[in-house]
Amino acid sequence: MPELAPIAAPLLAWYHQNRRILPFREDPTPYHIWVSEIMLQQTRVTAALPYYHRFITELPTIAALANCKEEKLHKLWQGLGYYNRVRNLQKAAKVVVAEYGGELPANYELLKKLPGIGEYTAGAIASIAFGLPQVAVDGNVLRVFSRLLASKADIAKPETKKVLSVQVQAQQPPQEAGDYNQALMELGALVCLPGTPNCEACPLAQLCHGYKQGIAASLPCKAAAKPKTVLPVCVLVVRQGQQVLLYQRPKKGLLAGLWGPLTLEGKYTLPQIKKELATRLPGAQVVGPLPKAEHVFTHRVWQLYGWLCELPPGTPAPQGAVLATAQQVQSQYSVPNAFKTYLPYLLAAGTPKEKAKL
Ligand code: ADE
Repeated sequence: MPELAPIAAPLLAWYHQNRRILPFREDPTPYHIWVSEIMLQQTRVTAALPYYHRFITELPTIAALANCKEEKLHKLWQGLGYYNRVRNLQKAAKVVVAEYGGELPANYELLKKLPGIGEYTAGAIASIAFGLPQVAVDGNVLRVFSRLLASKADIAKPETKKVLSVQVQAQQPPQEAGDYNQALMELGALVCLPGTPNCEACPLAQLCHGYKQGIAASLPCKAAAKPKTVLPVCVLVVRQGQQVLLYQRPKKGLLAGLWGPLTLEGKYTLPQIKKELATRLPGAQVVGPLPKAEHVFTHRVWQLYGWLCELPPGTPAPQGAVLATAQQVQSQYSVPNAFKTYLPYLLAAGTPKEKAKL
C-alpha cells in the first residue's frame, strides 16, 4: 500500500468552506446525531430532512421516543423504508431510559451494545456528538480511502474494511474527530462521487494515488452481491363503498406490523384468485387488473401484480383487517412504500371506477 501524505488539514479546510448546513450539524446533540445517522443509512440527505424535522419535533427526547406508540412511530417513518431501523431505535431508547437515565452514554463500546447501533453509528455518535477520537467508516469513506490509496481490495470484505479503517484512524486529528469524519462523508457525498469523481474540485487530488494513477473512477472494487430472491406477490385491493380493506401484517417478518392490502405470495391465476377470495371473503368479486410493480428489499424482490376487488355492503372486515376510509389510510395506518403503486387505489375507495383509471 502506498504511503498517504497527511490529508486532515486540506480536508478540514475544504469542509469548513463547503459543508452543507444541516439541522443536526447546527444542533449536534447525541440524540440528534443518532436519529440522523440512522435515517441517513439508507436514505439521501435531501430525502431524509423532512422526516428528520418531523421526527425531532414529535419526539424531542429519547424518553419521548421510548414511550411513543408503535402506530405513531411507524407513521413518522412511513416512506423511509427499512422499518427495522426505527424499531431498533425505539428498543435502544428504552434501554437508554432504563439504564442511562435517558441520555446516550459518551462511550463507544457502550453505544455499540445498543440495538441497531453498529461500529459506524457508534463511531459517528462518539465523534460528532461527544468529540471522542473514533472513526465512522461508511460506504462514502471506504470509497474515498480506496481512491486515496489506489486500493483495489474488495470493499465488501470485512478484512478490507479493517485495513482501510486503520488508515482512516491514522489520519484523524483526535481533537477534531467529528469534523474529520463528517468531512470524509461530505467529500464522498459531494465530490468523490461513485463512478464519476469530480477530481478537479477535490482538495485532496494532489495527494490521491488513485487520481495520480488515473484509476479513481474505477474504484472502489466491490464484489457483486449475491442475487436476491425474487417472489411474485398478488395484491388484492378490496373496496367496500367509501372504504378499503387494510390488513395488518404479522408481528414478525417483512414489514412486520404495518398495514396494506391483502397479499398472496406466489403466482395466482384469476380462477385461483377467485377461489381464494371465496374462502377468505365470501361474496367478494374481482373487478379488474391493477398495474404491476416491483419493490426491492435488502434480501428480496417482490414482483407485485394486483387486482381490484369489491366486497358487498354490510360484509364485516375479517380477523386481522379493518375497513378504512381514505382519510384513515392517510392519517392512521402506516402503509409501506412497497405498496406505493396501489396507494391511489387504496385512497380512491368509493370513487367511480373511471376516476380510479381502471
Ligand atoms: N451521511 C451519513 N451521515 C452523514 C453526515 N453526518 N454528514 C453527511 N453525510 C452523511
